[in-house]
This record gives sequence, C-alpha cells and structure tokens, in this order.
Amino acid sequence: MASIRVGKGIPVIIDHFAVHWSLSVGLLLCVIVHPGIVEAQTQTEFPLKLPLGLEQDSLVIPEDNPLTEEKVVLGKLLFFDTRLSANETIACASCHKPPLAFTDGQPVSTGIHRQQGGRSAPTAINRVFSTAQFWDGRAATLEAQSVGPFGNPVEHGFANDEALVAAVQAIDGYQPLFERAFGPMPVTVDLIGKAIASFQRTLLSGNSPYDRFSQADEAGAVSEAAQNGFRVFLGKGQCLRCHSGFNFTDERFHNLGVGWEQDDRDLGRYDVTNDPEDRGKFKTPTLREIARTAPYMHDGRFATLRQVIDFYDQGGTPNPHLDIAIKPLNLTEQEKDDLVEFLHTLNGEGWEVEPPATFPK
Ligand code: HEC
Ligand code: HEC
Repeated sequence: MASIRVGKGIPVIIDHFAVHWSLSVGLLLCVIVHPGIVEAQTQTEFPLKLPLGLEQDSLVIPEDNPLTEEKVVLGKLLFFDTRLSANETIACASCHKPPLAFTDGQPVSTGIHRQQGGRSAPTAINRVFSTAQFWDGRAATLEAQSVGPFGNPVEHGFANDEALVAAVQAIDGYQPLFERAFGPMPVTVDLIGKAIASFQRTLLSGNSPYDRFSQADEAGAVSEAAQNGFRVFLGKGQCLRCHSGFNFTDERFHNLGVGWEQDDRDLGRYDVTNDPEDRGKFKTPTLREIARTAPYMHDGRFATLRQVIDFYDQGGTPNPHLDIAIKPLNLTEQEKDDLVEFLHTLNGEGWEVEPPATFPK
C-alpha cells in the first residue's frame, strides 16, 4: 500500500485526506489544492523487491516509519558519513562494510580512537525481518538500533544526542534532504534513526543457490555435497532447532557456552533482562551470507565455519545454562565438510550497495 506522510505547515485539508490515500490520488489532491507543494511535501513509496526465498509476510516496518525513497536516500548518506562521529573518522560503514556483507572481518570491532569493543560486528542484512536487534536484543526496533552506535564511546563517540544532532546540523546540505524526507521540522535523533533504519531495511539477502534449488527447482544450483550438508543441518546436526525459517533464525536467545570459560564473561541477554535464565544467551544470528562474514560468534572467536561446526560437534561449552538442544553430535569428517558446503550455498544477493560518490556539503 502506498502511503503518504504529509508534513506540518501545509493546508489542513490535505493533512486530513491525503494521509491514507493512494499515492496517485494524494498527488492529484496536492496538485489541485496547491501546486507549489508537490515537490517538498510528498514522499515516494520505496518498492522493496524481495529476492527469491524471502517472505513478504515477515517484513517488520513500523507504521510510523513507512519506507520511502527520500528516507532511504538520506539514510544511506548518514550510514556512510564519517563526519557523524566525535572526531569525524568513523561511519556505520567503517564496521559494516559492503564488500564483507556489512561486517568488518574483525573478531571485535575497532571504533573511534582505535578503541575496541567486546563484540563482533554482525551483518546488517535482512534486518527488516527482525524485531530484537544486537547480539543481546537490547534494541527492540531498528530505529532504536540505528542511533545506538552514535553515543557509544567506543563507536562514534558522541557525548549525547545533542552532539549528534549538532554534527548533522553543521552540514547545511542535510537540511533539504531531511525536509524532503520528513517535511519542515527540526532535525532530531528520532528522524536520524528513522532514516538510517529505512536504509538498512533495503539491505537484503536472498536468491542464493539454496533458494534456487529449493524454491525454483534448479537441480544444479547446489552440489551433492551441499545437499548432504543440508540433510545434516536438518537431521543429525539439529541446526534447524534454532536456525529456522527462511532467514535461518528463530529470533530467540540461546546459551551455547561461547565465552563461558572467561572470568569476565559476557552474560549477553542477562544484562538486558536480569533474568538468571538468560545468563550467557545470545541471539540466534541469520546464516544468510555466512561464508562472507567471518570471524564467527558474538566474540568473533572462530575464524572458519569448520571451527564453528567442530564447536557444535563437541557439544558447545558445558555450563549450568547450556541450551538443551546443544549436545555432542558425533558428526563424521565428511558430514562436517558437507555442512560447510551447505552453508556456502546461503550466499545470495540484494545487499550490494555502492557507497555514495558525494556527500552533502
Ligand atoms: C566501531 C564499529 C561499529 C560502528 C561504528 C557501528 N557498528 Fe553496528 N555493530 C557493531 C558491533 C560490534 C555490533 C554488535 C554489538 C552488540 O550486539 O552488542 C553491531 C551491531 C549492529 C547491528 C545489529 C545486527 C543484529 O543482527 O542484531 C546493526 C543493524 C548495526 N550494528 C548497524 C549499525 C549502524 C546503523 C551504525 C551507525 C549508526 C553502526 N552499526 C555503527 C560495530 C559497529
Ligand atoms: C540452541 C540453538 C542453536 C543451535 C541448535 C545451533 N545454533 Fe548456531 N547459533 C546459535 C546462537 C545463539 C549463535 C550465536 C552464539 C554466540 O555468539 O554466542 C549461533 C551462531 C552460529 C554461527 C555463527 C554466526 C555468526 O554470524 O557469527 C554459525 C555459523 C552457526 N551458528 C551455525 C550452526 C550450525 C551449522 C548448527 C548445527 C550444527 C547450529 N548453528 C546449531 C544458536 C544455535
């Protein structure tokens, strides 16, 4: 459904009628009532085309932030702009690099002043299918996630929201882009979050060899070995118990014991809920593009997929909160190799983005 958001400061008659009207009718009204406002006040619905294998029904796009071209354009600039950090060196894209399927290839990320955080940068693809964001799910919306890093002292390093807004306002060229996206209102953290979330919702991964094999009956799309690997994934490996559905995640939190052996262990979900049951739980990540997003796990401890599988094969790291689905698997070497082959068939398309050639001045 096309939806138009109408900013403040335009004739009330349009405000009342156009909001839920289809794009064409809305445009017509604008033209009839006041030809001059068409450019500045109408937003164009962004046509999110889902590659094969992804499910339309599962899109999470909040009603108060419909996807529009104007927001996606703005959000992309904000995502790549290093001027939006305390010393103008760090952008979202510094840690979520397009060629690495929006990860950074490091065990843990390095942010402003070369400081390191304690966790590995997950991919930013297929976020439109998730509610809880981050390894511990502490952001309930992509809008909230999209502004979190700005105030993180080891990421963009802004002291507070005002400092972020001031940095955006200091760049004159952003003002008209915000107006086009949201209408004439002051730049706020909320609007920055809406724009960046909108851009991130366009980063998709589907139409992988696995999708073509399973949904388009392309028998030759994946090898025999990968097909065997898929059987292990479903059966002996029990991977599907958590990496379920078209995005290969149940969107829940589980304890595999990753990092449990450390004294200053990261308790993951527990730090968000304070529920003792949640100790050492982390969000099941998507496995799409997984062959491109090494190293693995929330602390980036495994350099290869083979190491990840060896970890599952041995039954994770025993601890009092270990998930009941994690136990020794007794996989053969062949089954492990085949599982790796299968995971490679989850590399798809829909996330290839060129960084902006120029930025607002
Ligand atoms: C210094 C590196 C760094 C920068 C800069 C950075 N991120 Fe991240 N990002 C990370 C790390 C590390 C995590 C995991 C943190 C966690 O889960 O606690 C993460 C998590 C995420 C996630 C969650 C993905 C998921 O599966 O839950 C998204 C989306 C994301 N970042 C987008 C952004 C955006 C948008 C920006 C810019 C506003 C940004 N990041 C800036 C390193 C970075
Ligand atoms: C009990 C639920 C569960 C089961 C079963 C499970 N996983 Fe996971 N998987 C997770 C969680 C949770 C993480 C993140 C753990 C962490 O970082 O602490 C994860 C992480 C991964 C990663 C790393 C992802 C990344 O982006 O770093 C891969 C690869 C993976 N799993 C593959 C598999 C395979 C293959 C199997 C079957 C052998 C499997 N998983 C079984 C829940 C599960």
